Amino acid sequence: MARHFVRTQDLSREDLDRILFHARNIEAKILAGNKKKLKRRLKGKTVTIVFWEASTRTAQSFIAAAQLLGATVNFTADASVTSSAAKGETFEHTIRMLASYHPDVLVIRHKEMGRLAEAARIIDHFGHNTRVVNAGDGPGQHPTQALLDLYTIQQKLGRVGHIRIMMGGDLLNGRTVRSLAYLLSKYKDVEIVFAAPEELQISVDILEHLTETGVKWSQVGENFRQQLPRMHAVYWTRLQTERIADTALRERLQMVQKEKFCIGVDELGIMQADSILMHPLPINSQLREISSEAERDYRCVMIQQAANGLWVRAALLDILVNGWPNY
Ligand code: NCD
Repeated sequence: MARHFVRTQDLSREDLDRILFHARNIEAKILAGNKKKLKRRLKGKTVTIVFWEASTRTAQSFIAAAQLLGATVNFTADASVTSSAAKGETFEHTIRMLASYHPDVLVIRHKEMGRLAEAARIIDHFGHNTRVVNAGDGPGQHPTQALLDLYTIQQKLGRVGHIRIMMGGDLLNGRTVRSLAYLLSKYKDVEIVFAAPEELQISVDILEHLTETGVKWSQVGENFRQQLPRMHAVYWTRLQTERIADTALRERLQMVQKEKFCIGVDELGIMQADSILMHPLPINSQLREISSEAERDYRCVMIQQAANGLWVRAALLDILVNGWPNY
C-alpha cells in the first residue's frame, strides 16, 4: 500500500482484503459494545480534515471514525471560503501550512481533479510525515467511497467476485464509479454494464484499464432496462450538475436523466429478488434518479451503504497510522 491513499489503483488485492477484514472487525467490536480498546488506537494522534467541496456523509463519517479511535480531530468545511484560499493563497502554501502543524493524517476533498496527488507530492517533497487521504477530487476519484461500496457488496451479496453490476447515471463527472471500477477489476469474473446517456458515459481510461485486467464490460443507453434482470447489483448515481458549466447542456441532461435514466418501481420489478440497489448519495431531490417508492424497496441498501463508511474509514485511518494489524 502506498504512503498516501489517493487512488484506488494503488491498492493490491491483498491490501484490499486486509482493509475490509479490519473494517469488519471494527464493526463487530462496536456492535458488541466493545469501544474501549478501539479508543486507544489513535490516542495522541491528530486527524485534520479540510473540505473545499460540500459533504455530509464523507465529512461526518471521517470525523466519527477518527473519534472512535480516540484521535483529536480538526475539521474545516467550505475551505474555499473559510481558508486563506479566499485571500488568494496558493494550494501549495495551504498544504504546507496544514502539514507543518504535524497532523498524522490529512483528509482532503477538493473541487479539482489531481489536487490530492499534488497535495501528496507537496507533503513528500517537504519531508512531512503526514499521510494524505483523498475524500474526493473533482471528477477524479473517491477512493474511500469505493471501499465502502465494496464492503457493502461483500456484506449484501456474500462475495465481490462473480458478479454482474450495472453502474448508471453521470459516469463522466461522477468519481465514485471510477474508483469502484478500479477496485472491482481486482476480483475474478466481474462484468460491468455502464448505463448512461452518450454525453455522460464512462471515460476511456477506465475502459482501457478494465480491458487490460480482463473485466468484461459494455455500455448501454436508455435501453438499459433490457440488462437489469441479469444484474446482481445496480449502482446508480446523480447528475453532477455542479460540474456542468454550460447551462443549455446542463438543462438538457437534466431532462434526459429525469425522463430516461431513473430507477423506479418498474425497474425494481424486473430486477432479481436477491439483487441490490446502491447509490453513493446524495439523491437529487428534483431529478429523483431513484424514486421515493423505489427507495423503500428492501433491495435498496444505500443508507446502510453510507453507514458502512464509518467502519472502512476507521480501518483505513488505523492502518495508515499504525500499520497493518496483527490478526
Ligand atoms: C459522492 C461524491 O461526493 O462524489 N458523495 C459521497 O461522498 N457519498 C457522490 C455525489 O456527490 O454524487
